[in-house]
Amino acid sequence: MSNQAGMNLTLKVWRQKDGNSKGKIETYKLADISEHMSFLEMLDVLNEQLISEGKEPVAFDHDCREGICGSCSMHINGEPHGPDRGVTTCQLHMRKFKDGDTIYVEPFRAKAFPVIKDLVVDRSAFDRIIQAGGFVSVNTSGNSQDANAIPIPKAEADKAFDAATCIGCGACVASCKNASAMLFVSAKVSQFALLPQGQVEGKERVLNMVQQMDDEGFGNCTNTGACEVECPKGISLENIARMNREFLKAKIHKE
Ligand code: SF4
Ligand code: FES
Repeated sequence: MSNQAGMNLTLKVWRQKDGNSKGKIETYKLADISEHMSFLEMLDVLNEQLISEGKEPVAFDHDCREGICGSCSMHINGEPHGPDRGVTTCQLHMRKFKDGDTIYVEPFRAKAFPVIKDLVVDRSAFDRIIQAGGFVSVNTSGNSQDANAIPIPKAEADKAFDAATCIGCGACVASCKNASAMLFVSAKVSQFALLPQGQVEGKERVLNMVQQMDDEGFGNCTNTGACEVECPKGISLENIARMNREFLKAKIHKE
């Protein structure tokens, strides 16, 4: 720890009792925040302060606090997961801010992600898209082939692994002016489309997942690329192009 005094910050936090209430920004002052804290640790300090004042703590989602679960999704100064690149909110450090800063903290904004309370939004639309096809049906009766017995070119395997690093955080949706879920869905389609195991159910998968995405009220992709910039896992736009090709192929074969 450095011997320097911590930062004094002004937080402007979105407070909303539930999905039916109108929300508003509340202002809070925090003193002596260490630059070594994560953003969520800073919110913990805020909540301890609010509780000691007899006030309701700020509700926010988190679980792993190490960039894996994708639940710590919020807008920080207008950007999903804040000003750093390639990190989730739980991996964001307070050293990215400076003494005297005012920080706006708001929930992700998208019609398909309704606010539950304060910074917590309902991202179950993503779960329903996965349920529509984001899986491989495997016969586990004991007769299944050893996956390592199927040779897969290294370049394809790497691309599939890269697509599979999507943590379903929703930053792509929150950063898109159309609230499109194409980066997320295309990552989930691509991780299977690139591998032989994904071919069997490939056509139904892409058609069903895209249908579910549309049913959930996500917007269209207009190739602005904001999603790729804000994605904490560096999911490439290349996946969207692949999903579009997979979708067209599946449509043509179906008709
Ligand atoms: S594509 Fe990136 S931003 Fe979108 S859900 Fe996956 S990890 Fe999050
Ligand atoms: S709390 Fe799990 S990714 Fe941030």
